[in-house]
Amino acid sequence: MKPPFEAKQKETDILIIGSGAAGLTLALRSADSAKVTVISKGDLREGATFYAQGGIAAVLDEADSIESHVEDTLTAGVGLCRREIVEQVVSRSAEAVGWLVKLGVPFTTRTKSSDKTSSETVPNAELSSLHLTQEGGHSHRRIIHATDATGKAVFETLKKSAQNHPNITLLESRTVVDLVTQTGEHGSRPACTGAYLLNQDLSKVEVIRSKFVVLATGGASKAYLYTTNPDGASGDGIAMAWRAGCRVANMEFNQFHPTCLYHPHAKSFLITEALRGEGATLELPDGSRFMQSFDSRQELAPRDIVARAIDYEMKRLGCDCVYLNITHKSSKFTIEHFPNIYRRCLEYGIDITKDRIPVVPAAHYTCGGVVVNAQGETDIANLYAIGETSFSGLHGANRMASNSLLECFVVAFGAAKSICDELPRTKFTEKIADWDESRVTESDDEVLVSHNWDEIRRFMWDFVGIVRNNKRLNRAKRRIKILREEARDYYITHKVTNDNLELRNLALVSELIITCAIQRKESRGLHFNIDFPETLNEGKDTILYPDNYHGITNRTNL
Ligand code: FAD
Ligand code: SIN
Repeated sequence: MKPPFEAKQKETDILIIGSGAAGLTLALRSADSAKVTVISKGDLREGATFYAQGGIAAVLDEADSIESHVEDTLTAGVGLCRREIVEQVVSRSAEAVGWLVKLGVPFTTRTKSSDKTSSETVPNAELSSLHLTQEGGHSHRRIIHATDATGKAVFETLKKSAQNHPNITLLESRTVVDLVTQTGEHGSRPACTGAYLLNQDLSKVEVIRSKFVVLATGGASKAYLYTTNPDGASGDGIAMAWRAGCRVANMEFNQFHPTCLYHPHAKSFLITEALRGEGATLELPDGSRFMQSFDSRQELAPRDIVARAIDYEMKRLGCDCVYLNITHKSSKFTIEHFPNIYRRCLEYGIDITKDRIPVVPAAHYTCGGVVVNAQGETDIANLYAIGETSFSGLHGANRMASNSLLECFVVAFGAAKSICDELPRTKFTEKIADWDESRVTESDDEVLVSHNWDEIRRFMWDFVGIVRNNKRLNRAKRRIKILREEARDYYITHKVTNDNLELRNLALVSELIITCAIQRKESRGLHFNIDFPETLNEGKDTILYPDNYHGITNRTNL
């Protein structure tokens, strides 16, 4: 007879689900005091981090100040940012960049101290020598970057450091299915004690026990047909936390980046906002500029405003795209600052030093997520959430450019400290029941999975996109109910695969997005509903409670 538990279940002090900026930072900051396992569902690099372009917002310039960065963030967030979180994150920005420089991230430096526009890429540079670029919503040049491929430079450095640390184990091709929680005694809140994960190489679900679990699973922008995000951005962490009993908030604020390359063969290729920061203009097909009609900051207005303006003009003119034009800058300047975009566009026959770049908005960033405090603690004991999967209150109704990577580092610093402080007092749980596959069949209808995946992404784009109305939102609500049930039925009756797990999660987070969007009876930041065009005087977060919520926060005191 099969024993109820595997003879030896795997265990680790800290299980980090996600190998992006947030997960790897937490791993490196805690590994001197703990055994750490980092999981990724594909290749380690396949999160959003690797693809980040513009950079990391940080106050390094003498003429800049923490107060100014805080105020810009609050303004972009349209009344919903939590000031104390914004202050905490921004005030540690220089420390975060200093830590990355020390690890060896080759940031771009100014070639001459007096020259703020000419640059080269150098490892171990002095903070004062880093080149600062500009992005929307920022009233100063404060974006530290590694040319136009900041994420790749950061990821490669973090990965190398993690690979060299004896206490860090990196596991690829493992999809976490669900968290394991244990009900607390005497009505105390439940605790997370491990996770079930699909080992894709063995097609087998394994158990891993751990003292702490950290969700660093990135965002959910794959809920939309057009997105800048890699394929894995299916909101798994948000879905898992919700099923485990955590609150989820502000999912209506999905950010659409204004400028994704419009080309039939270019999948999800972003054209960084830093291009506009360095002077690129947005133009209609006839060559005229239009942003002056929408905002006095023109091309450098916050993203919600620029994306909505483009959407409006495309619908008004019935055109497929608008254009970004940087041809007025010298070829040397453009190629030096944006070498990857230059090269990539050239592959599609667009020479950005001579041609305008066709662009469209695309889903880019999930401002909402799993509700956490300043250290990344969730409603469930020993479960943390950090990075894009979390809702810390930093971004409010609209994230300001380059504040996301910053949040990944700073909140991971705090979470690592909190976990390491608690570690000596925390024990492993008893063994966890093995995964039971005795009542399921092989996955034999993957066409249902791929069809429903496409259907969700299309109606989310059409009905829950940049401009919303009540009729479309209610239409989306009816459709997602059916698709969620189908995804759940398929999950219950078939062996799990990466695709059907992602569909189950994508369907759930789409429902959470729709529910939040319906609950908000106003327009604010990224959420624009033509049936409620006004912004209410008082801004409130949209906080959703799962049926199995047993957290410490009273439902009525938020
Ligand atoms: P990610 O980097 O997305 O990593 C998620 C990880 O979770 C991956 O390793 C994935 O495999 C793993 N995972 C997910 N689900 C599971 C599961 N079920 N089981 C196991 N593993 C799982 N922000 C900025 O601040 N500056 C920028 O310049 C910038 N540019 C951007 C450009 C692009 C094209 C994109 C898409 C985003 C950009 N952003 C930028 C946003 C920023 O990159 C992301 O918000 C940030 O990198 C998220 O990091 P993360 O660690 O939270 O998650
Ligand atoms: C970009 O480079 O335009 C993306 C920056 C961000 O998402 O913060």
